[in-house]
Amino acid sequence: MSTQEHRSKSGFETRAIHAGYEPDPTTGAVIPPIYATSTYKQDGVGGLRGGYEYSRSANPTRTAFEGAIAALEEGERGFAFASGLAAEDTLIRALCRPGQHAVIPDDAYGGTYRLFDKVERVWGLAHTPAALSDPDAVRAAIRPGETKLVWVETPTNPLLNIADIEALAAVAHEAGALLVVDNTFASPYLQQPLTLGADVVVHSTTKYIGGHSDVVGGALVVRDLDLAEQIAFHQNSMGAVAGPFDSFLAHRGLKTLALRMDRHCDNAERIVAFLQAHPEVSQVIYPGLPEHPGHAVAARQMRRFGGMVSFRVAGGEQAALEACRRTEVFTLGESLGGVESLIEHPGRMTHASVSGTELEVPEDLIRLSVGIEDAEHLNADLDRAHG
Ligand SMILES: Cc1ncc(COP(=O)(O)O)c(C=O)c1O
Repeated sequence: MSTQEHRSKSGFETRAIHAGYEPDPTTGAVIPPIYATSTYKQDGVGGLRGGYEYSRSANPTRTAFEGAIAALEEGERGFAFASGLAAEDTLIRALCRPGQHAVIPDDAYGGTYRLFDKVERVWGLAHTPAALSDPDAVRAAIRPGETKLVWVETPTNPLLNIADIEALAAVAHEAGALLVVDNTFASPYLQQPLTLGADVVVHSTTKYIGGHSDVVGGALVVRDLDLAEQIAFHQNSMGAVAGPFDSFLAHRGLKTLALRMDRHCDNAERIVAFLQAHPEVSQVIYPGLPEHPGHAVAARQMRRFGGMVSFRVAGGEQAALEACRRTEVFTLGESLGGVESLIEHPGRMTHASVSGTELEVPEDLIRLSVGIEDAEHLNADLDRAHG
């Protein structure tokens, strides 16, 4: 079966293993080789083999990963970058012009907020934070004729708010804007925004896609071929591409994404149940809980509810910092989506850059990236940390 046929006919797990790559015609290599080359021999001037001329423009290891991520997101074209933020910057400057405007989440990932607020604003792109769980708030934030992008994270980082992708696509398109969904927290296994009307999917592949905390990378996926051309032009012109080693690691991660995500979700559910019963915990935030305000939307647009769990502690900031210091299996660290469990204090760590802004997060908040270790061990570790 050709790659195209795999994409249209097979299930997610089969696409994760096969899409984007046919065994190498020269050697039969089953896994895409790491093409550590910057340039390619031409068969006469302009006689390119497979379109490869220089590895900023294209590299076969990157091409394989780009094909695979596009297939898993049900898109037409994928693009791999040096980091999630490099993907975001390339996308924003490919699609927007000075004088335009974007609506962004009022609890966006801190680095995305910083990019809009400190980099793109200086370049001439205005932005308005809005509560994305409320489509009317997004509609009100749109500036007719100026808003080019509505930027969505769902679930958000770190408050795990849920946005209705289908509803927001309608709001954005009504206003002539494009809907961008950062799908990092869900991964394409749990949620496929392009099938719900989004125009662009963004990933920090550093997270669940890489899955092993050993690579920093980013990706964009689109269906529309005009958008794809604009992104391809800017990817090559701006040059923040994923290298072949990083593309290899991200692609390898994709192959086990489904297995890992199911285990992340299983463990998260066990930890949520444990935290809910814990006297030191004042609130557990998880979209899988029926009382979560976004639960119904999440249940509609996600396969399961993910491996990220946030919670607030009764003892305030000091108690939260102390708990982060005391865990032994949960490693204190930024990032998320790896096989190992991580704990962090967003107010002082990942989201320190939004301190003092309207995106500030509660100081008693702890965020967990639940790994794939055994759940009993993880719960015992959290219990000890609160003890
Ligand atoms: C939701 C989300 N989007 C984007 C990024 C940025 O990705 P990177 O760190 O790979 O540049 C992050 C990083 O934590 C993230 O959590």
